[in-house]
Amino acid sequence: MTDTPVDTVVSVPVAVVGAGPAGLMLAHLLGRAGVEAIAVDTRSRHEIETTQRAGILEAGAARDLVETGVSDRILREGHEHEGIELRFGGRPHRIHFKELVGASAWLYPQTDVFVDLADARARDGGTVHFGVKDTEVLDITTDTPRVRYTAPDGSRHEIRARYVVGADGSRSMCRDLVPEERRVRYGKEYPFAWFGILAEAPRSAPELVYAHSEHGFALISQRTESVQRMYFQCDPGASTDDWPDDRIWETLQARVAGRDGFRLHEGPVLEKTVLRFRSFVQEPMRWGSMALAGDAAHTVPPTGARGLNLALHDVKVLADVLLKALGGAGGAALDDYQPRALQRIWRAQNFSSWMTRLLHTTAGATPFDLRLQLGELDNVVGTRAGRTYLAEQYTGWPAGCSG
Ligand code: PHB
Repeated sequence: MTDTPVDTVVSVPVAVVGAGPAGLMLAHLLGRAGVEAIAVDTRSRHEIETTQRAGILEAGAARDLVETGVSDRILREGHEHEGIELRFGGRPHRIHFKELVGASAWLYPQTDVFVDLADARARDGGTVHFGVKDTEVLDITTDTPRVRYTAPDGSRHEIRARYVVGADGSRSMCRDLVPEERRVRYGKEYPFAWFGILAEAPRSAPELVYAHSEHGFALISQRTESVQRMYFQCDPGASTDDWPDDRIWETLQARVAGRDGFRLHEGPVLEKTVLRFRSFVQEPMRWGSMALAGDAAHTVPPTGARGLNLALHDVKVLADVLLKALGGAGGAALDDYQPRALQRIWRAQNFSSWMTRLLHTTAGATPFDLRLQLGELDNVVGTRAGRTYLAEQYTGWPAGCSG
């Protein structure tokens, strides 16, 4: 297919494979600086908009969406949370981020971030092709990389660019283009998954509740006044067919139950999904004229709510180095990308993996393991250093990190 004729050829400075939040935010940041980027995605806009993802944004990421002119909807419809609740041993413990580290987090679903970005691209005249097929990325070790794709109507197109960005998510095909003998993949699978639901019910708590119980983990999150998002730890092989609503509510109630009599408001379950996850990083994040961003380069378990935030940080750094490269500094400017992005990535990998181990139970755990875990949880909530550590990690680090 590589050299078969195409119906159209266009030239732009940057071609972006993947039009999720990372790809679209990158195109938006470049567009603001007068640099055109075309993004393509195999999914339709509707498909991306309706796939439930996590919902927490660091205050810095929320501010970037507003200040770079994507949208200020987050200020009207998002919810600023000044802390979270950790429940264990049947007791609630509040971690007050604002008091501990002067920061907060915003509850604003990733699907809304995507809608805001897609609308901003349309408003600003940016080009995004959704629902494409047979995407090919060619010549990335030259100064003239190309992206070829088939449009939904069957026509075939080529984008000639100076740089290509692989922002094509956790099943990235771009990352496979880094030669096998030159790339390293670090990662870990977990012996559990999350069962995620959307339920029609009023809020059960004002903030997020991360619950540890001897039966496993549960997370109580929110979406709107009348629709709530909740998760509970399940077997990675679980099927949604085995989980009628009654069983779901019984499981969730048992995991959050405590001496304070806390109960979840129940209601019809609108959506059920089993979410498998892993920890993963591929290095290098740049190969020739191609750079990887977001989930294409790294994924984290959802427990620390870092995924979207990391992706947005990647593209902030990437937009900066791409603008330098295109502004005359040349490809050498891209050498800064990985070192500037990677420190935060490994911090987030560590935090996400720590938070996951802290809150989930594993099948082979002994009573001793369980007590160790409760001891660690008590160290986290019962000491100022522990609370501060959690607050600082959860609300994010300064851009570029620091000591
Ligand atoms: C969500 O609201 O979907 C959510 C929130 C926090 C997490 C993960 C998911 O850690």
